[in-house]
Amino acid sequence: MKKNIILIGFMGCGKTTTGIRLSYKLRKTFLDTDKYIEQKMGMRVSEIFEKYGEDYFRDLETQCLKDLLQGKSSQIISVGGGLPVRRENRELLKRLGTVIYLNVSEGELYDRLKEDTERPLLQCEDPKAKIRNLLKEREKLYLDAAHVVLDVGKKDTEEVVNAIADIVKSERNNRE
Ligand code: S3P
Repeated sequence: MKKNIILIGFMGCGKTTTGIRLSYKLRKTFLDTDKYIEQKMGMRVSEIFEKYGEDYFRDLETQCLKDLLQGKSSQIISVGGGLPVRRENRELLKRLGTVIYLNVSEGELYDRLKEDTERPLLQCEDPKAKIRNLLKEREKLYLDAAHVVLDVGKKDTEEVVNAIADIVKSERNNRE
């Protein structure tokens, strides 16, 4: 198994912001799967959805994980909220390193996402219902994908980063 730290969770749970700050703290490089795909395709995620559809985007996510398994061993990786939905992706994630699920409540997610204009899945009539339904479908899959569940609650980014750094340290001590 590789030694990356991978952050998973629903859109708006703070994977990218947390990942960037964590990478500073632990002096590791940071990679976001959406950004990786956007660079590879030369298109925004929203354009990929629009032009090629969601299934195609999901194939790109799987390919991204396969690429990462061939690459660096010790970075911070944040992944798109829907990536762990595929069983194959959950298996690939586990091989990539320690998978941490940032668990945020439905109400808090809605507050953070209600003004969103970027995420294609939320550009619908009733984003609140969409969040509720997606969360219901995905929660068990996030739990299945994760080695560690971190309840974010009202914690700010700094507190989440420190909590993850502690988890990583204690994992390392347990291994030694
Ligand atoms: C998606 C989440 C997005 C992005 C795409 C689909 C999802 O990433 O991959 O819009 O299915 O939950 P973030 O979780 O970083 O917003």
